[in-house]
Amino acid sequence: MSGSETEVEFSKDMTPEEALEAAKGRAAGAYSAAMQAGDKWGALAVWDEVFAMAPEDWQMRSNLATILAGHGAVEQALELLDRAEALGAPASTLDQFRAAVKGEAPARPDMEYVQHMFDRGADAFDERLASVGYQGPATMELLMLSMDLPLEADYRVLDLGCGTGLCLPHLRPRAGKGGLVGVDISGEMLRLAEARGGYDRLMQGDISKAEDLPEGPFDLVTAAEVFNYFGELRHTFALIHDLLAPAGLFIATFEAAPDGDGPDKDGPGFRLQPSARYQHRMEFVAAEAEAAGLTVALAAEIDSLRKEGARDVPAHGVVFQRAQGAALGPQNDGDGDGE
Ligand SMILES: C[S@@+](CC[C@H](N)C(=O)[O-])C[C@H]1O[C@@H](n2cnc3c(N)ncnc32)[C@H](O)[C@@H]1O
Repeated sequence: MSGSETEVEFSKDMTPEEALEAAKGRAAGAYSAAMQAGDKWGALAVWDEVFAMAPEDWQMRSNLATILAGHGAVEQALELLDRAEALGAPASTLDQFRAAVKGEAPARPDMEYVQHMFDRGADAFDERLASVGYQGPATMELLMLSMDLPLEADYRVLDLGCGTGLCLPHLRPRAGKGGLVGVDISGEMLRLAEARGGYDRLMQGDISKAEDLPEGPFDLVTAAEVFNYFGELRHTFALIHDLLAPAGLFIATFEAAPDGDGPDKDGPGFRLQPSARYQHRMEFVAAEAEAAGLTVALAAEIDSLRKEGARDVPAHGVVFQRAQGAALGPQNDGDGDGE
């Protein structure tokens, strides 16, 4: 039996979703071969079968554009984004993806793009993050333990970009009676956080806007895997500074920019990857924090915050402290017992 006969026979028993997945699998193999042969247009053309099965799916086209751009096929990626536009992709998404594909680095993405992306991906978020070995919540725990924050406390805690609440198990016990507030731009992510239960208050808003933030002061502010959607940091760091109690802690992760290369080498200290997520240099993060009145109390290099394909995504896990007063946790209370 020939290969094509096998395919036809096999397809007959498949649901449309299974057939699409099978076509994607076939295209992925042919794509790698075409890329290895240096045939970038050919690498795009192998997806025609898949596109034909999903004629209106602009998201598939724009996602594929980021993959092509990641392999240096910029023209082909831009062509795909044009096709996504013709199918009705939102302008805010296209702007961000085009900038990423061209190696530009706007200081901020359009918030509509971020909101739409997370609204669309909310239901699959937890499963997807588990499948890429997401270590954000574990990293927050590690950083809190490194600062000797007690496992249970009554801190006033603010979880910025709280998403579906994956950090909740690490924050709720520390918030105790102090209260735990979550803020996120995506209503769909917040709906799932609400369903998870455990936040005292959830608010929809942009954490770079003072008017969208709750009233402080907070002893602890967290932001796990949120600054991938920020280029510049200073403005938001200044807002966080103002929300913190004296000596309050702000703990966040930043996807690390590779050293020594990339368009940011002598540039702004951040870069937008073809995936449309930002990376930051630690020196830049520290300088932005200092300008906002925050000092770096601890900076850890995390080898893998998650996987992106086969690649480990390295990150900076950083604890900042608002200047003034005694530190949170047991380390500065004189007797070391955490009371
Ligand atoms: C990768 S998820 C991480 C969610 C959560 N912190 C976790 O560790 O699972 C990033 C979240 O940040 C939110 N986000 C990104 N930019 C934001 C902004 N400017 N204001 C509020 N939320 C934002 C997104 O909506 C999304 O829920």
